[in-house]
Amino acid sequence: MEKTYAAITAVGAFVPEFRLTNKILETMVDTTDEWIKTRTGIDERRILKGEGLASSDMGVEAVKDLLSKRGISPEEIDCVICATVTPDMSFPATANIISDKAGMKNAFGFDVSAACSGFLYSLTLGTSMIESGRYKKIIVIGVDKMSSIVDYTDRTTCIIFGDGAGAVLLEANNEGVGILDSILKSDGAGRNYLRLKAGGSLKPASAETVIAKEHFLYQEGQSVFKFAVKGMADVSFELMQKNNLTADDISWLVPHQANLRIIDATANRMNLPKEKVMINIQKYGNTTAATIPLCLWEWEKKLHKGENIILAAFGGGFTWGATWVKWAYDTK
Ligand code: UT7
Repeated sequence: MEKTYAAITAVGAFVPEFRLTNKILETMVDTTDEWIKTRTGIDERRILKGEGLASSDMGVEAVKDLLSKRGISPEEIDCVICATVTPDMSFPATANIISDKAGMKNAFGFDVSAACSGFLYSLTLGTSMIESGRYKKIIVIGVDKMSSIVDYTDRTTCIIFGDGAGAVLLEANNEGVGILDSILKSDGAGRNYLRLKAGGSLKPASAETVIAKEHFLYQEGQSVFKFAVKGMADVSFELMQKNNLTADDISWLVPHQANLRIIDATANRMNLPKEKVMINIQKYGNTTAATIPLCLWEWEKKLHKGENIILAAFGGGFTWGATWVKWAYDTK
């Protein structure tokens, strides 16, 4: 009998309406459309506007999209894993809030904090849970409302990030398709290059931390860039070598969308032509945990059963990794 794998059987997503274009950013900080395009590849990003709206509200929409596409009810879901660095609040977990709002009454849930690699970490965890045979239907969500932690007077970060949510359903499969392998890595020595300085137990919120803008994302861009280029390319190549995959075997690379130059470096290392690389950074910017499921959602109709897909990410922590997926279905 074929081994049981966890397969992605549906994809859902949500992006907010409002488009923060490079032209609008030109009126907010000292930057240009040309600089942003050439240094990052981004034209615009989506921003969640409206009082009282949070990451969970985007996550719920992605889940509803997924459930309606798969034609199942929310009560059928066993577990919800939510990757995010912008939870609605420190606790309870955003996964719990999403489950409540979407009516997933029989699911337990928790959040995973691994920044831009959060979706890959969560997918690998969900895969093991399905393979164990104890759970039948697991939803893995990648969601971030980055606009809630971005300083819109800091031109080095506000041009990069956007808001969005993506979700996938994992179910058992015995046809040899699904999530076949993952290599995940982390190195806490990189923690100071990309972080939220205050609001945690190390430096609780105070009037001083607010004045010092320490509740906004802090990034040393150039250093992160160097680690990201090497980390994402190396781990993707390592996954190919480990599984004897050549560039010809791979139909798609789904890279985390942080910077077009990082994506290009990874594709080059894997010897993949541009036509095989999913790129939507120009439309959404860097949505942190949501970038990879947003790509899968956008390309879903072009994917075919049995195709080899490599997902790759690098993010704060540092965290990074790559996952080999044999796609499980054709979209009618
Ligand atoms: O997703 C999680 C992981 N994060 C990443 O992977 C992000 C990695 N880093 C990056 O993508 C890039 O480092 C950035 C896009 C953040 C910055 O690009 P860069 O090519 O590394 O620029 P830089 O920081 O070296 O800055 C070059 C110049 C500087 O001016 P001087 O010192 O050369 O005069 C900056 O002050 O560009 C200036 N600059 C800008 N100019 C116009 C920085 N931001 C801007 C801006 N508009 N928005």
